[in-house]
Amino acid sequence: MEKNTRGNFTGNIGFVLATAGSAIGLGNLWRFPYLAAKDGGGLFLLIYLALVLTFGFTLMTAEIAIGRKTGVGPLQAYGRMNKSFGFLGWISTAVPLIIFPYYCVIGGWIVEYAFTYTVGAAGNIYETGAKDFFTGFITSNISPLLCFVIFMTISAAIVILGVEKGIEKASKIMMPALFILIIGISIYSLTLSHTDENGVTRTAWDGLMIYLIPNFEGISFSKFISILLDAVGQLFYSLSVAMGIMITYGSYTKKDSNLLSSINQIELFDTGVAFLAGMIIIPTVFVFQGAEGLAASGPSLMFVSLPQVFEQMGIFGHVLGALFFILVFFAALTSAISLMEAVTTSIIDRFHLKRITATLVCYAISLLIGAVVCLGYNVFYLDIPLPNGSVGQILDLLDYVTNNLMLPIVALLTCIMIGWVCKPKSVLDEISIGTDGKKFRREKLFVVMIKFVAPVLLVVILLQAFNLFSFLG
Ligand code: PHE
Repeated sequence: MEKNTRGNFTGNIGFVLATAGSAIGLGNLWRFPYLAAKDGGGLFLLIYLALVLTFGFTLMTAEIAIGRKTGVGPLQAYGRMNKSFGFLGWISTAVPLIIFPYYCVIGGWIVEYAFTYTVGAAGNIYETGAKDFFTGFITSNISPLLCFVIFMTISAAIVILGVEKGIEKASKIMMPALFILIIGISIYSLTLSHTDENGVTRTAWDGLMIYLIPNFEGISFSKFISILLDAVGQLFYSLSVAMGIMITYGSYTKKDSNLLSSINQIELFDTGVAFLAGMIIIPTVFVFQGAEGLAASGPSLMFVSLPQVFEQMGIFGHVLGALFFILVFFAALTSAISLMEAVTTSIIDRFHLKRITATLVCYAISLLIGAVVCLGYNVFYLDIPLPNGSVGQILDLLDYVTNNLMLPIVALLTCIMIGWVCKPKSVLDEISIGTDGKKFRREKLFVVMIKFVAPVLLVVILLQAFNLFSFLG
């Protein structure tokens, strides 16, 4: 059988950890806390949670089931579900092929920070100033390229080793380590307190309240919609859906494995880690930089604000910084592997190449794109205006095109294919295999979501990508 030569996860634990490894990444550790801080703390958390259990659950279930049912990677899976949707295979394989290189560029930045902290050289960051250090690093000639290549080579090495010996094994080591690190660091960060030069003492506890208690102040209808859209966008990215990854990993699961319970666990892990990341970052930045620091941090949170906080913690900051960036490194690596695997498996299925050759093809293409992205801060520096009004570099452009356009399009067409063309039964039947006769309790919810609610939400996200809701203010 075709399936056996492609490799399989040895069991549910391998599948859950590898898939959670894909889902848990920079989105959880950096983007989630920053959005939660911006969007009224507890209110964002509540909306996010409701969406995970409905929207996220539906998209993830559909894709994993497509993977297991067809037994192939995304490039061919859509065509096997329905001939007229074969083109969707190409788009959904193009997405990880574009994301992988720039994800590895950011992975390279993490390598630099993890290395600097681990060898005890964080003093260099502090002497230069966290902001200047970061800008100096990404705009330099050689270092970002080198770190990018290191990160991508480690990912490729794991993918070459295959599903069981590479991806599953690496996830079984890195994911438990990640869980221990994040729980340990979050407990430590709740014990922090600091008195600033004005004699004001702030405790982590107060920061935690900012994070957890819903802030309804100034929440108008339009603000609510913008929080909702932030949450939907975040969820999408965080669960790694609409980029062929869930189809790929689903295709490696055995027919007798219980997909429903695995999906519940994956969602729990992904949301749990995002929640804990917020519990670390929001109170810590609040203690040392106050509410203004939190508000001002934005996307530069991870590489600028956090090192500033670690600096103020003295020797503890060095240790915490090293542990934190190792944690981020594990999270980013397991996500990068899944991106590369989705492309590699499609090349193997379609062109019948050996795994090593297919991986090297992906590596070569990514090397080129990634190098251009790195140089986008240097010789190819351009200020590119994006439809949402911001200005970015090549990395931001690729990020925008994939996350705001391609992902919603793939997800929308997937919902239409399953909801209206192949019919939800095609997925529900697959899901019910291996559940030991247990009923699929969210079956009705799944049908309503995939046919109506998810497509509407996705169209709204697409419209927002072109800034069509700006009139809401
Ligand atoms: N889901 C990952 C995260 O939360 C991001 C990711 C995107 C992973 C694309 C793989 C592919 O960070």
